[in-house]
Amino acid sequence: MIKEIMERRSIRKFSSQPIDKIDILHIIESGTKAPSAKNRQPWKFIVVQGNAKEKMLQAFYNGVQREENGTACLPGSVQFISGARYTIEIMKQAPVIIFVLNTMGKNMFSSMTDEDRVFEVCNIQSVSAAIQNMLLAATERKIGSLWICDIYFAYQELCKWLDHDGELLAAIALGYPEEQPKPRPRKKIEEVVEWMG
Ligand SMILES: Cc1cc2nc3c(=O)[nH]c(=O)nc-3n(C[C@H](O)[C@H](O)[C@H](O)COP(=O)(O)O)c2cc1C
Repeated sequence: MIKEIMERRSIRKFSSQPIDKIDILHIIESGTKAPSAKNRQPWKFIVVQGNAKEKMLQAFYNGVQREENGTACLPGSVQFISGARYTIEIMKQAPVIIFVLNTMGKNMFSSMTDEDRVFEVCNIQSVSAAIQNMLLAATERKIGSLWICDIYFAYQELCKWLDHDGELLAAIALGYPEEQPKPRPRKKIEEVVEWMG
């Protein structure tokens, strides 16, 4: 997997070639092999493809459009809304979108006790580990992927459309790549490592 770690890129241009169900299941199964806090496995994956994408994209679009009448979901982040619009266009192209839920999640915007916050952070780390496994498993099968959190710009609309228990955390776009991006820059190793002892 070191090869896949090095080769994985966020893909934003996909061909319309469908992905076999067996590959989608393999990618999800790879996600479920991730470690999780107390082995709680607090994840659920909703696979959206074909016609089912239309209502989802409409919900995303409606959420993003709220900026126009001053009721944006994240009013302090309106400068990033154009990025969210671009993400919608990427999701339109991708033949498969997987929504990832934290099944033990509290309400994203509620206040929490310290214990609840620790529980939440551990569950989110667990689900994030699953997502990364999925991206690497996709890379291994030459399937492109994009981890998407712009969904938070239409959080209420997308949760209503999903109509599932649990906390929506992210979406993953999957499809065969129609671009081969160069590696994006990373901070120098000296910047991010500190040695003690
Ligand atoms: C938590 C998370 C959320 C992300 N959300 C988005 C997104 O909504 N739209 C998008 O185009 N890229 C998104 N990305 C992809 C990042 O922009 C990308 O990983 C980063 O620029 C580094 O590029 P690379 O993945 O090709 O190395 C997200 C990545 C992560 C880890």
